[in-house]
Amino acid sequence: MLEVIVLAAGQGSRMRSNLPKVLHPIAGRPLIQHVLDVSRDLNAARIHVVVGHEAEAVESAVAAPDVICHLQREQCGTGHAVQQAIHACEPTSTVLVLFGDVPLISAETLRRVVDAADGVAMLSAKISEPAGYGRVIRDDLGAFDSVVEHRDATVEQLALHEVNTGVLAASAAALAGWLDRVKNDNAQGEYYLPDVLTLARQEGVLVNVIESGRPFDALGVNTPEQLEALERLYQRSLAEMLLHAGVSLADRARLDIRGRLQCGENVRIDVNVIFEGDVVLGDGVFIGANSVIANAEIGSGVKIHPFTHIDGAVVGAGAEVGPYARLRPGTVLDDGAKIGNFVEVKNTHVGARAKANHLAYLGDAEIGTGSNIGAGTITCNYDGANKHRTTLGKGVFVGSNSTLVAPLTIGDGGFIAAGSTITDDVKNNELAVARGRQRNVEGWQRPTKPEDTD
Ligand code: UD1
Ligand code: CA
Repeated sequence: MLEVIVLAAGQGSRMRSNLPKVLHPIAGRPLIQHVLDVSRDLNAARIHVVVGHEAEAVESAVAAPDVICHLQREQCGTGHAVQQAIHACEPTSTVLVLFGDVPLISAETLRRVVDAADGVAMLSAKISEPAGYGRVIRDDLGAFDSVVEHRDATVEQLALHEVNTGVLAASAAALAGWLDRVKNDNAQGEYYLPDVLTLARQEGVLVNVIESGRPFDALGVNTPEQLEALERLYQRSLAEMLLHAGVSLADRARLDIRGRLQCGENVRIDVNVIFEGDVVLGDGVFIGANSVIANAEIGSGVKIHPFTHIDGAVVGAGAEVGPYARLRPGTVLDDGAKIGNFVEVKNTHVGARAKANHLAYLGDAEIGTGSNIGAGTITCNYDGANKHRTTLGKGVFVGSNSTLVAPLTIGDGGFIAAGSTITDDVKNNELAVARGRQRNVEGWQRPTKPEDTD
């Protein structure tokens, strides 16, 4: 049985932030969520999370049926942290230790580590800037000797580029035994987890050093600079995967995916676009510059013009949205609908080929097929206490600057004169005019300024 222990009790003081380090996001998800995801990819029977600093916040962020949290009251080091969880593991389980601040480690690499856990296995990586990491010390024959923390290392050891990623796997019983014997006689006065590797070696147990071949496996987050650098590296890799899959990107460096993005064929994405949550783009979709698209399904051939914000909407095939449009949760646009500039739509179903081309608010409404909503139209859906619905039939024409006071129903083919405030239902094909009548005053005198009396 495989059990994972994730260390997440540290304060992360180098982040200079009051948000616990493991809750800082990479690609829109907390660092630790990435670690839980990969643990699940490995089919871990149980995931133990060691919490300490801001324990409650971390606990609620990771809460799930397969997660057990263990409190480390004082942060006395990574070895001490593992001790808080090791006794909750089945002695015969293989335990894989992961760090909550090393988020992008791949399942593929971890499988190699778990498979080598006969004895004890650790994951090392060769990185160009090893500052801050523990260095892997090998003997003259190249066999594993020990891990030396940056702060305890000699100048010669600091020159080594092979580092400890923190990942380690062994049987729970063996790990518990070694942890009992780890001492804290080092620069930080902490119980270091990698010291178990030295104890194992001294006992004649094989230490399998698995070298990571993947770029992100080793990259930990200790500072805001590292967080930003890792985000950029990761985003670039996501963009390159899209390019490889045939998506046209105006600039691979100006695109962020904070969730899952699925693209059809011939999708084109202009610069500075952000995707959040689950987004699906159909074939031939175009996304204009500076748009933010969250939790949305965008049908084939849809054009999203620049500066559009979409959250929680379904956009039917061939529809057009923007520029400067906002689709809020509960919006459904049927095929060929058009939502133009400065139009906000919320919890509204817009029928096929219906249009609201400029400056409107459509909230809690049903807009029938082929209806036309004039500029300045507002559905008054809120009476200060409750929300009410507005229902427009097919082919309704709403003249500019109309206020539709809900609850309200306008029948098929209804016609609303511009500037109307509509409070009563309108039947099929009726014209509703609800505005002051125009009066022209003949012989009217313009006001004048008082005569200059000097
Ligand atoms: C650690 C390793 C180092 C390795 C590096 C890889 C040790 C002693 N050092 O150093 O060899 O190269 O990670 O990224 O293991 N934590 C606790 N309780 C504690 C201390 C830490 O839960 O008492 C958690 C932290 O929240 C963090 C992880 O353990 O998620 C690593 O701790 P951190 O202080 O960041 O260790 P590093 O200095 O990065
Ligand atoms: Ca770290």
